[in-house]
Amino acid sequence: MHWSSISLPLTALSLAAPALAYPQARAEQPLAQTNIRNSRADAVKAAFVHAWDGYSKYAYPNDELHPISNGSGNSRNGWGASAVDALSTAVIMRNATIVNQILDHVALIDYSTTEDKVSLFETTIRYLGGMLSGYDLLKGPAAGLVSDKAKVEVLLTQSKKLADVLKFAFDTPSGVPHNNVNITSHGNDGAKTNGLAVTGTLVLEWTRLSDLTGDQQYAQLSQKAQSYLLKPQPESAEPFPGLVGSHIDIETGKFADGRVSWDGGDDSFYEYLIKMYVYDPKRFSTYKDRWVQAAESTIKHLASHPETRPDLTFLSSYNKGAYTLSSQHLTCFDGGSFLLGGTVLQRDDFIKFGLDLVKGCHETYNQTLTGIGPESFSWDPKSVPASQKELYERAGFYITSGAYILRPEVIESFYYAWRLTGQEMYREWIWNAFVAIDKYCRTGSGYAGLTNVNAANGGARYDNQESFIFAEVLKYIYLAFSPDDVWQVQRGKGNKFVYNTEAHPIQVA
Ligand SMILES: *[C@@H]1O[C@H](CO)[C@@H](O)[C@H](O)[C@H]1NC(C)=O
Ligand SMILES: *[C@@H]1O[C@H](CO)[C@@H](O)[C@H](O)[C@H]1NC(C)=O
Ligand SMILES: *[C@@H]1O[C@H](CO)[C@@H](O)[C@H](O)[C@H]1NC(C)=O
Ligand SMILES: *[C@@H]1O[C@H](CO)[C@@H](O)[C@H](O)[C@H]1NC(C)=O
Repeated sequence: MHWSSISLPLTALSLAAPALAYPQARAEQPLAQTNIRNSRADAVKAAFVHAWDGYSKYAYPNDELHPISNGSGNSRNGWGASAVDALSTAVIMRNATIVNQILDHVALIDYSTTEDKVSLFETTIRYLGGMLSGYDLLKGPAAGLVSDKAKVEVLLTQSKKLADVLKFAFDTPSGVPHNNVNITSHGNDGAKTNGLAVTGTLVLEWTRLSDLTGDQQYAQLSQKAQSYLLKPQPESAEPFPGLVGSHIDIETGKFADGRVSWDGGDDSFYEYLIKMYVYDPKRFSTYKDRWVQAAESTIKHLASHPETRPDLTFLSSYNKGAYTLSSQHLTCFDGGSFLLGGTVLQRDDFIKFGLDLVKGCHETYNQTLTGIGPESFSWDPKSVPASQKELYERAGFYITSGAYILRPEVIESFYYAWRLTGQEMYREWIWNAFVAIDKYCRTGSGYAGLTNVNAANGGARYDNQESFIFAEVLKYIYLAFSPDDVWQVQRGKGNKFVYNTEAHPIQVA
């Protein structure tokens, strides 16, 4: 199917200009659709305010709310992760009250002190990405939201301070960073290797920081680390063109294995290859070439169809000649990545495959008792537990971890499918997921995770609300029902923003 020949019944654009798209149906149908869209957008905003108010009342300035006990946790170094992660969504929802509260908080953060080791990856995607995105939005298309311009500038000065605190992590013989570091002693956890995703998911944020400050050191550090991933050594690290191993030796920059997947640990390395090209096609065309190779190899070698549901497509993983037939909620960003690459590069085969992946991940939601998908699942016919035979026969997969910790990836890919095809079905899938999350995860003060998505009421609940419900889950849902703003994902080459892996929109170069 060619990208432009997909039928477009009700795109966000056609809703904005119903007279052009639907000359016969001016008064009734588009208006009714607009009303539904607006009421759904309002419901998502209300969910965001509910979670924000609970965090604000019981957990601020800690990292996250414990939404059952109304306590709080500091899993992200105690710098107020939920506040920083919520900023870009609050901007997109145009809630000036919350935006100003968060800006006041950012000004107070002391990134030079913490009691725990710091994860370079988590800190980059949540804090650095959150602040840079807030800066790009508030200096650009959302400039009217904050009248005090000095409060916006703080986002950039704090970003630079944070990167200056962290940059020693790259000071290794190869330039491949340590991920878990002590910012007081400049020590690390002693790891000999670093993971593919945590090494390869820094370059967007650190390059943006250089482009905004004019100080090239941040871009250079992250791109030097990335260089080993783009030209993998030894040969065995790249069993199929573009698909590379999972661990990189910090001393030499050589890969330590050739195990390939799109699962957690590897995932956002592939995500950022194409996103860097969207960020700046001039500087990052090599990244795009590597993504194309990986995508083609993935279609050829990793695509897998359950025996009981050959109509579904999942991604398997591969190591030394053997395939593992299992996947994860985390992996379900894959449909969105193929759709973004497909539309930007005008490759019908990638679009079609992306929609196949989206359909598979939707099935993991649609076939459970709660309508929410599991943390991990499998379709290996040799290992089906007796208790899940019926599920495997009907749904094509069985559950290996039934937890749901408020992850975004399935909804994220639905959002790309909605934006790029305009088919209402994908927006309905997003709405169904929202209704299910609101039904099973909502507490008096926020949203809690579930222990078993395929048990009545989702099993028990985890007393934790990850900051990414603010940054990602509620943002992607809201975007699907909100107007066609400049930060939305666009068809073709028209993207003015690109989303980091924590769903913070970064302005393209
Ligand atoms: C913005 O957030 C505040 C604080 O949570 C809330 O009370 C208010 O209703 C929100 N405004 C809108 C328009 O949603
Ligand atoms: C970091 O290093 C300092 C100074 O050596 C030490 O006091 C502290 O306990 C270390 N922190 C962690 C989390 O290892
Ligand atoms: C599964 O999808 C069907 C068709 O879209 C829908 O009617 C049904 O409610 C969904 N079930 C769940 C649990 O989401
Ligand atoms: C937590 O706060 C909410 C909202 O104020 C309240 O409904 C709930 O009962 C509280 N839970 C506990 C354990 O105090």
